[in-house]
Amino acid sequence: MSGFYKKSLDERLALIKEFAGLEEKEIADLKKYGAMDFEIADRMVENIVGTQQLPLGIATNFVINGKEYIVPMSMEEPSVVAAASKGASIAKITGGFKAESTPPVMIGQIQLLKVKDWGKAEVAIGKAGRTLVDSANEADPVLVKFGGGAKKIETSVIETERGKMLIVHLLVDVRDAMGANAVNTMCEKIAPRLEEISGGESRLKIISNLAIYRTVKATAVFTKKALEESFKKGDLKGEEIIEHILDAYHFAANNIFRACTHNKGIMNGIDAVAIATGQDFRALEAGAHAFASMKGKYTTLTRYYKDKEGNLIGEIELPMAVGLVGGAVKTSPIAGIAVKMLGIKTAEELGQVIACVGLSQNFAAMRALSTEGIQKGHMRLHAKNIAVMAGAKGKEIDRIAAKMAEEKNIRVDRAKELLKESEDK
Ligand code: MEV
Repeated sequence: MSGFYKKSLDERLALIKEFAGLEEKEIADLKKYGAMDFEIADRMVENIVGTQQLPLGIATNFVINGKEYIVPMSMEEPSVVAAASKGASIAKITGGFKAESTPPVMIGQIQLLKVKDWGKAEVAIGKAGRTLVDSANEADPVLVKFGGGAKKIETSVIETERGKMLIVHLLVDVRDAMGANAVNTMCEKIAPRLEEISGGESRLKIISNLAIYRTVKATAVFTKKALEESFKKGDLKGEEIIEHILDAYHFAANNIFRACTHNKGIMNGIDAVAIATGQDFRALEAGAHAFASMKGKYTTLTRYYKDKEGNLIGEIELPMAVGLVGGAVKTSPIAGIAVKMLGIKTAEELGQVIACVGLSQNFAAMRALSTEGIQKGHMRLHAKNIAVMAGAKGKEIDRIAAKMAEEKNIRVDRAKELLKESEDK
C-alpha cells in the first residue's frame, strides 16, 4: 500500500478490492458519491476511496428568539429527529427557546518549558502582552479587519510530574470561524518571542477545545398543560410529569453514570446538527464534556427547575466553537445546503440553534424516560428497520413493522415470515 496517496481512484479501489476481498457490487457502492464527488472528498482528507453517507432529516417546530427554523440533522440513530421535534413542539407553546451567546473568543495554548525564573517570566510576558497580541494579529489581518483577532494574553504555571511548565493563553476573537487555524497560526507566530522573553523553550502551540469564553446559554418553559397534553391518553397529570422529570434530572446531576448518558442524549442533537452543517463535532464533544466537569465533578450540561406557576424551566450552557467560514461548511455541498435551510447568517446564530437542539433533545428524552420509557417509540422505528432488513418494500414496511410491534416480537425471522405470508396471499 505504499504511495497509496499518489494512486488514482481506480488504482486505489483495485488495491483495496484485492486486499479486503471486496465484491464488484461493493466497489460499485463505493463509487456512488452523492453530492460530494471524488474530487471534493479527495481535497478534504487523504487516501479517499469513497464517501460515507448518513441520513439527513429535518427537525421541525423550532422557534428560537422569536424566529422559526427548520433544523437539518444528520446521524445514524433512529428517534433523534423525532425527539428533537417533539421537545421543540412543547417549548413552542410558550414562545420557543431563548438563546444568548458570549463573544466568539477561543483560547490558544503555548507550553513553555525549562524557564529559569517562573515568576519573572510571567511578569515579563504580562508586560509584553500588547506587543505579543499585535504580533499575533500580523498573522491574520483579514480577521482583524472583520473586528476579530488576538485580544489578550494570560499566563499560569502548573506543577507536573515532569516539573513546572509555564502555560500561555492567547485569547482570540475568531468571529465567524471555528477558529482552530487562525489560533494555531497565531500561537506558532508568537512562540519564538515568548521563548526570548521567558528564556524557556516552547513546545505545544495549539487551540484549546475547552472554549469557556465562547459559550451559548439557552432556555425554554415547558408548561404542565402542554406536558400533560403531549401524551395521547396519559395516566399522569402535568404536575406529576414535571416531578418525574425533576427526579430524572437530579439523578443525573448527582450520578456520573447517569450524567454521562444524559449528556450523550444532548450530544445526539448537537452532533447531528453539527454533522449536517459540516462542523468539527469532535471539538464540540470534547469541549462539552470538559465543560461539564469544570466545577470539580462531572455533571449535566442542562439544568431543570420549576417556576412560580409550577411549570418546568429547562436550561443549557456549553462551549460552542462552530464556524461558517473555512472548513467543511464551505467545501461539503450538503453542509452548504443545510446552512441555507437554517437561514442563518452568523456562526453565533448557528451555535444558538445547536444549543437549543441539545436542550430539546434532552428534555424529550427525560419526558419519555421518566414516564412511558423510550423503548415504545424506539421499537416502532426499530421495527421498520427490521422489516426493511427482511426485504419489505413500500407499504409492506409499515404493515409488517406495526404487526411486529403489536406482537412485541421484533425480529428479522418474524418479519420474513410475515413477508412470506403476504406474498403467498
Ligand atoms: C440514546 O441515544 C440517548 C438517551 O439514552 C439519552 C438519555 O438517556 O437521556 C435516551
